[in-house]
Amino acid sequence: MRPRAPKSFEYISLAVPDAQAAADFYEYHVGLAPVERASDRVTLRCGVEHHCIELETDSKLDAHEVRALGFSVESEEALADLESRVAKAGFPVRPVSDRIKALCTTGFATTDPNGLDLELIFEYQEWAEPPMVMLRPLKMVHPFLATPHYDASVEFYSKVLGFLPSDFIGHQTAFLRCEDRYHHSVAVRRADQVSVDHIAFLMQTFDHVMRGHARARYKKLNITSGIVNHSASRSIAFYMSEPRFGPPVELCDGHLVFSPEQHETHAPRRMAVDPRNIDVWRVAGDDWGLR
Ligand SMILES: [Fe+2]
Repeated sequence: MRPRAPKSFEYISLAVPDAQAAADFYEYHVGLAPVERASDRVTLRCGVEHHCIELETDSKLDAHEVRALGFSVESEEALADLESRVAKAGFPVRPVSDRIKALCTTGFATTDPNGLDLELIFEYQEWAEPPMVMLRPLKMVHPFLATPHYDASVEFYSKVLGFLPSDFIGHQTAFLRCEDRYHHSVAVRRADQVSVDHIAFLMQTFDHVMRGHARARYKKLNITSGIVNHSASRSIAFYMSEPRFGPPVELCDGHLVFSPEQHETHAPRRMAVDPRNIDVWRVAGDDWGLR
């Protein structure tokens, strides 16, 4: 049997200048519902999983810092195997944070080739019901990583952690999937600096994406793209950015999910580096403009 990948992307932990202001942003612009709201720490959720965003105030900051990315794992056996693969590949193995330790059965933390802390956990605790909020995401689907350590990152996520390649754009972007079979639960792009380029939320309908777009326009947020139709995952999306609150946010509709058979047999495409292989609506090979 092939080495198992993590099951699903679950949460991002962020330090921000003002957790309350950031929480207001995620409630209004993304549709997340607060789980715990203390003065200096807020968690929010979109589905039944305990939370998808943790915000902690660090008033010394001007902009957010990513503290950890969390992935669930489908069984204790898969977790133990992941831990041994990570250790064998020479990456650190540490306990997860105390807060996450209280919210799962077992898990471990490591650091990826970009210095990003990852937590891999079994039995992430959940709620009986999703939030009773009309306009909310179904799921936080992926972090998109930008990095000068592209080759080492693709090697780590695919060969060590077992993520399955769904598609590549040339040798500069990789889309990698978990066992939940979403087209990508991590994407990696070559860049000059390490960053979480964005986090993506799958909304319930295209209308909800467009309501998010209208809210962003109404509040004069920085909308960093037009409406795009992603060539790889066939999701229709836009991006908005407010660095005080977190990485740029993508709201999307219609993210491709592989069938169980495709998940085991799919051969990743190696698509040409061309804007039409990022957004099928682009009109020419030099149409890099986003607005
Ligand atoms: Fe994305």
